Amino acid sequence: MAKAVIKYFCKSCGASSGKWIGKCPSCNEWNTYVEEVVHKETVVKAWSKKNTEKSYPIKIRDIVEGAEQRYTLPDNELNRVLGGGLVAGSLVLVGGEPGIGKSTLLLQMALATPRKIFYISGEESETQIKMRAGRIGIHNDNCYIMTETSLEHILNILREETPEILIIDSVQTLTSTIIDSPPGSISQIKECTGEILRFAKETGVPVFLIGHINKEGSIAGPKVLEHMVDTVLQFEGDRHYNYRILRTLKNRFGSASEIGIYEMRGTGLREIENPSEILISEREDNLSGITISCAVEGIRPMLLETQSLVSTAVYGTPQRTSNGFDLRRLSMLLAVLEKRCGFQLGAKDVFINIAGGMKLEDPGLDLGIVAAILSSYENVSISKEIAFAGEVGLSGEVRAVSRVEQRISEAEKLGFKEIMISKYNKGIDQLSGKIKVIQIGKVEEAFEWLFG
Ligand code: TYD
Ligand code: MG
Repeated sequence: MAKAVIKYFCKSCGASSGKWIGKCPSCNEWNTYVEEVVHKETVVKAWSKKNTEKSYPIKIRDIVEGAEQRYTLPDNELNRVLGGGLVAGSLVLVGGEPGIGKSTLLLQMALATPRKIFYISGEESETQIKMRAGRIGIHNDNCYIMTETSLEHILNILREETPEILIIDSVQTLTSTIIDSPPGSISQIKECTGEILRFAKETGVPVFLIGHINKEGSIAGPKVLEHMVDTVLQFEGDRHYNYRILRTLKNRFGSASEIGIYEMRGTGLREIENPSEILISEREDNLSGITISCAVEGIRPMLLETQSLVSTAVYGTPQRTSNGFDLRRLSMLLAVLEKRCGFQLGAKDVFINIAGGMKLEDPGLDLGIVAAILSSYENVSISKEIAFAGEVGLSGEVRAVSRVEQRISEAEKLGFKEIMISKYNKGIDQLSGKIKVIQIGKVEEAFEWLFG
């Protein structure tokens, strides 16, 4: 009988120690160590065919550079966030809050991909999964479902029969008998992911691992796993809206700033090829406080509606509320408008909303936000036919944005007549477009142009 020992693990980085420590020496976080029971036995790893083979260093110039093998999945958004398809032998972690649609996303992919796929679930019964599959529609005769949480059993099955793609829902439900701690604990998650990783690397089978994130962070979230896996995708969205964003947080095989956009429907997730169309609402009249900004997430331009409401503060302290836009950035923009352009915003409530529940970090949204604030402040509407893309600096200067050509052509494609950008974006006049490009250097010039 193996002897059980108590070990302490850091919730934040997964480091272990024989005794409890207040400050983690590896990630410097305080009070992150939790107690877990582990068997002392040095266990032969469950998935270890090549334990005896040794590897030797080889010269870098002798390494044959084979293009890594990629499967193109039928889901274009997923292909995009993976960097152009699923790489053989890669381990992809899909994280997200419960109920956001992770299982739906991967089941839908499994049902549509004409390959042999194992979907192993520890969360739902076969009939529940079948019901969900019924809503989505089954197009793959080679999609197998198994409900299992024992890692050893899963590995035994995989040894007998290897799928072409493996999906595990979720990593928090897996349990290995080597570890005494309950499923979802740090040592279980580390051990199970380690085994799955070994399986993926040795067989070349790509694996999707679903991981839950919880707000309190009391169980080990996928943070610990991020170091182990090749790709980390995060599925996010506001549950009150139907739009979902699949974001790359880490990718060893492609860019880490890609996003995929979906809409959750009664029949599963629908890919949104052209996000601009859904993010700009149809409106008849011109309303004040609304502008269209041209943002870029990853390499993807999209036009979206930025809304603002400026009203006289009725309570002592003026409120600043923002939905989808960084609140500190909003305070900065308000300070710039007040100090550099003389708008009395100090006694006003300011509310900002990015339509569609999108949360973006592109500084190119600044100019559109500033224009929306000014439009609401002046109570004068801004034409529906102008789009904005520019970063606002601390002295009120409008700075250049990245990928400006793409932003301009996206606005043009969607029928905008004008786009306002920074004059520091050079080489724009060569663009032979029908859209009129207005280049400004300062926020005051934007004000003059719009309301002067
Ligand atoms: P789910 O994939 O179970 O989320 P997760 O695995 O991230 O916990 O998604 C659950 C939500 O999705 C649930 O609220 C119902 C909704 N849904 C739809 O709106 N349409 C559908 O076709 C499906 C399958 C789910
Ligand atoms: Mg699920």
